[in-house]
Amino acid sequence: MIRVLFLCLGNICRSPMAEAVFRKMVKDEGLDDKIEIDSAGLGGWHVGERPHRGTLEVLNKHGVDHAGIRARQFTKQDIQAFDYIVAMDEDNMSGLARLGVKKGPRVFKLLDLVPDERDSDVPDPYYTGNFDLVYELVHKGCAVLLKKIKEEYNL
Ligand code: 4NP
Repeated sequence: MIRVLFLCLGNICRSPMAEAVFRKMVKDEGLDDKIEIDSAGLGGWHVGERPHRGTLEVLNKHGVDHAGIRARQFTKQDIQAFDYIVAMDEDNMSGLARLGVKKGPRVFKLLDLVPDERDSDVPDPYYTGNFDLVYELVHKGCAVLLKKIKEEYNL
């Protein structure tokens, strides 16, 4: 199994959206027996909660299943357990760095993969309220991520 973890701060807005969107893309390509997907948050405030209403609404609007997703906190075990750790913003990258995880071929920001968006962050809709923009960016990033993984593993 190739294991992909999406990471954000609270694990209720951005990374669960990325988890659901990527899961759909992977399933649509028949790769769900090869790629395993999860998400986590650096903070623990929302552990056990379902995604934010704005995330659920945007996923419903685009016909993306989100059953079973609940917030959990990132742990040190995740560093070894996942092949890719995909963060949403620079603040997440600083959080990872504090835990000793450095940016590299398997640890990066989602939008670093998108040529037009390189270096940019997925803005936190918990504060901006703009879940549609997050969907657009997450969808773009996930498409490139899948292409990259397929290339790297000859899938
Ligand atoms: P997320 O958004 O990192 O995209 O899940 C946030 C959700 C909750 C909080 C911060 C960001 N919070 O501070 O509770």
